[in-house]
Amino acid sequence: MSRICTIWTVAFLASATLLLQSSEIEAQNPFTSATDIADGERIFQLDCAICHGGDARGGMGPDLTRGTYRHATNDEQLFQIVRYGIEGTEMPRRVRTDPRAWKVVAYLRTLGGGGELPPGDPERGRELFFGSATCSTCHMVAGEGSRQGPDLTLIGWQRSVDFLRQSILEPDAELDPRWWSAQLTTRQGTSVSGYLLDDDLHAVRLLDGSGNLLAFRKTELESFQPIKTSRMPSFAGVLSDDDLDNVIAYLASLRGEGVEQ
Ligand code: HEC
Ligand code: HEC
Repeated sequence: MSRICTIWTVAFLASATLLLQSSEIEAQNPFTSATDIADGERIFQLDCAICHGGDARGGMGPDLTRGTYRHATNDEQLFQIVRYGIEGTEMPRRVRTDPRAWKVVAYLRTLGGGGELPPGDPERGRELFFGSATCSTCHMVAGEGSRQGPDLTLIGWQRSVDFLRQSILEPDAELDPRWWSAQLTTRQGTSVSGYLLDDDLHAVRLLDGSGNLLAFRKTELESFQPIKTSRMPSFAGVLSDDDLDNVIAYLASLRGEGVEQ
């Protein structure tokens, strides 16, 4: 009796192990023919090019021709990203069916050899960032700097080099509304300014330079001026061409090393 039990237990454990192993085997892409790849490229142009560029070399979203990904090492993980987006990031869910997502994966796998490093010296760029270029008075990298602007710890993964250059030279281009600010004066004569968090019919909420949340009823206000330009100054003509390259090389190198993710 106990021997039979043992045999059953062993058989059960063996099949459980097999099951575990098979679930670890990653899904193979069922759509890899030349037609699938061409379809994948078409879907990419429709759903992805707006952020990743028509040639997949990046825009607001990262360059996808680097051959390595922050969020994926195999086809199964790439499929999950393409099909469902990446939660907690700006990468949205766009593709509506599994076959379409697999075809895009097949297309992405044909890209490679891109992602050359930009010219410039990242070490010198870092000195400028935390020194004379004053970037760190607004930006944080790996916990160092200030929170007035976005945290740039992972920016090298998130944006293309062209987009970084544009962010520095033309901060107002493609400004996300979450960076809008406002200036207001109350009926008592107090003036304040800060990031505009909410603005509806009845109330306004601002975040001031010290990180305080300020709320006002519209009836309390003498004047209210929303500002839809960036609080970041343009560095066109402020940084030399070399220093601009150095700062961009530094930003492009920021991949969150040494930071818990
Ligand atoms: C609204 C802009 C936007 C659209 C549209 C978009 N992406 Fe993205 N994507 C991003 C951003 C931004 C990231 C970086 C996310 C992060 O790491 O913070 C990203 C990340 C990715 C990644 C992961 C890169 C890595 O290094 O791990 C892949 C792969 C990807 N996108 C593919 C696609 C595909 C394929 C489509 C079309 C189906 C698409 N994206 C549509 C903005 C976009
Ligand atoms: C006065 C504050 C301030 C200074 C100084 C400043 N920035 Fe910014 N920066 C911002 C704000 C606010 C934003 C968000 C709005 C926008 O995109 O313009 C931003 C956006 C950016 C972005 C785009 C981030 C993204 O997620 O796409 C980059 C890159 C950047 N800054 C780099 C720099 C560099 C490099 C310097 C120094 C040469 C610098 N900034 C100096 C406030 C500042």
